[in-house]
Amino acid sequence: MRPSESSDRARGSSAEAVAETFDRWVREGMAAGMERRHRRLAERMLDRVSISSDGCLLDVGCGNGWLARLIAGRVPEAAVVGIDVSMEMVHQARLDCADLVNVMFAPGAAEEIPWAEEYFTHVISIESAYYWRDPAKAAREIFRVAKPGGTFHILINYYEENGFSAGWDAETGLALHRLNAADWVDLFAAAGFDDVSSDQIPDDSPISPGKTPEAMAHRQGLQDVGALYVTGRKSKAKRRADLQAQVDPGLFRILR
Ligand SMILES: C[S@@+](CC[C@H](N)C(=O)[O-])C[C@H]1O[C@@H](n2cnc3c(N)ncnc32)[C@H](O)[C@@H]1O
Repeated sequence: MRPSESSDRARGSSAEAVAETFDRWVREGMAAGMERRHRRLAERMLDRVSISSDGCLLDVGCGNGWLARLIAGRVPEAAVVGIDVSMEMVHQARLDCADLVNVMFAPGAAEEIPWAEEYFTHVISIESAYYWRDPAKAAREIFRVAKPGGTFHILINYYEENGFSAGWDAETGLALHRLNAADWVDLFAAAGFDDVSSDQIPDDSPISPGKTPEAMAHRQGLQDVGALYVTGRKSKAKRRADLQAQVDPGLFRILR
């Protein structure tokens, strides 16, 4: 059964369990390593994303906020909002980005984004989507908050085509969604996005020393296969259902 069916069986770990895990990551000093591991991929992804000075971005599962800082460095006039289910991550992000006036962080889940509809020009998410309890619901929420003409950009290393990440659910102790590229594309297309496509982005970051040769070879394998990048656009054209919702019901009867 696919997560796109939003069934209980298809759901991942609860938001509370995920938050508990990542709160602990912050307390145990593991959050800082995320930037080291994900930054190069994020840079390669951002090279493909055009962000203008009036851009307003949402980072879903923002962790300790390093991506918002990276974006603010590239496009200082753009605004970035980060949300995360882990309050400790949000707190850390607020501390680390206290000097940035156009960046803010709030607690919130991908499945219930605490924001007005049609607000963001870009919705970005790195290494978070496979933790979402209900990815189909999250995709619909991302569609809701995206502006017409806006885009989404998801990057994940945990997906079916990358065998090197297969054990991560056991390592984290969480129920993660192990989908393939076509599943992720279908899920965002079903949420309403157009031109949804995927690609694999190899990661050329240096491998941290201090690991066993086997662990280094495993990491290299993961990076060579690369991360799955899924992107798409919210059409500017109003859908017929949206248009019909605007029409006075009496008038609509006459027109038919
Ligand atoms: C592996 S970390 C990645 C953090 C950051 N994006 C990065 O690349 O360093 C995954 C993050 O996603 C958050 N997360 C997981 N499920 C979430 C959900 N349903 N809604 C919002 N955030 C979520 C976690 O709390 C965690 O901070």
